[in-house]
Amino acid sequence: MAEILAGLPLAAFLVGPDARIIEANDAARQLFGVGIMGRHYGFALRQPEVLAAIALAIERREATTARHVVPGPSFESIHRVTVSPVGVGALCLFQDISDQEQAGAMRRDFVANVSHELRTPLTSLLGFIETLQGAAKDDPVARARFLAIMAAEAGRMNRLVRDLLQLSRVEAQERQRPQTPHDLARLILGAVQSLRPMAEAASVALVLEGLERPVMLLADPDQITQVVTNLVENAVKYGGSGKVVTVRLTRETGPRGPLVRLDVVDQGEGIDPQHLPRLAERFYRVDGHRSREKGGTGLGLAIVKHIAHRHRGRLMIDSEPGRGSVFSVILPI
Ligand SMILES: Nc1ncnc2c1ncn2[C@@H]1O[C@H](COP(=O)(O)OP(=O)(O)OP(=O)(O)O)[C@@H](O)[C@H]1O
Ligand SMILES: [Mg+2]
Repeated sequence: MAEILAGLPLAAFLVGPDARIIEANDAARQLFGVGIMGRHYGFALRQPEVLAAIALAIERREATTARHVVPGPSFESIHRVTVSPVGVGALCLFQDISDQEQAGAMRRDFVANVSHELRTPLTSLLGFIETLQGAAKDDPVARARFLAIMAAEAGRMNRLVRDLLQLSRVEAQERQRPQTPHDLARLILGAVQSLRPMAEAASVALVLEGLERPVMLLADPDQITQVVTNLVENAVKYGGSGKVVTVRLTRETGPRGPLVRLDVVDQGEGIDPQHLPRLAERFYRVDGHRSREKGGTGLGLAIVKHIAHRHRGRLMIDSEPGRGSVFSVILPI
């Protein structure tokens, strides 16, 4: 029996007729502590649902399943427990379903978020359509104003759908590293060039550093352009008008070899440290109202993060309230 339990890819133990644990594999000892052998099963497990399932197997020879939840420091681990009568005792198998449950919860959150993000502009569109069909039917001034708002709301929905599609595309490709070498400096210059009008409109000066020399690396040119666009757009949007945004490329030697580091530096109001760990999550915004007002979907940094991962790199954020932020993408060469 010990050999069979050791061969199972699950935490498993066997309860004998006297309600003591008579055999347990390594996974079960890790889960419940090495001291469980020979102890009453109620010593290892305190959850009524699981205790009842074991009692049922021993007393009535019935097999059941139960849920077992172990709270942890940062997340709880959840097991599906299968209890079957074996001989005169009970066999208990613990299958870790934490990842599944977490993925399910994330999917539900995601759908809820997307629905919410789409519903807001949609509600506003429907309201204006109704007004244009009724009260404002023959009012050309109101019509022009409402149509402008409607165009902005429809534009936001359009951007949201575009960003969502892009995010899912990047995620789907995340394991395929780009195959062709490109000059990162030239890609960044090209992207910044097309952002100049937007920066000028916001009275922001764009300063470039370290882009004179080519830096060749395996890259997806469209995605690199997207990274620069999203970061510079943010720096201009949240950096404040009349300020400077610096785009800087530096080479470094990291512990695992040569790296290139793209910094986008702004002089804006910065970000409270409490927000930093979550900033690159989808739909996370420091000030949702303000971001939406500026037409943001809250997906920009999530896209940057996934593109960085696809290039085997990472996104780092350094910010101090009152002094501005530095968003860095670090890529191995
Ligand atoms: N340079 C910055 N300075 C201050 N806050 C920033 C900066 N960049 C991003 N943020 C904060 O991080 C949030 C998430 O940024 P992200 O780019 O993902 O979304 P967004 O800009 O709101 O929308 P979009 O999808 O249009 O980019 C922003 O809403 C903003 O609160
Ligand atoms: Mg953004």
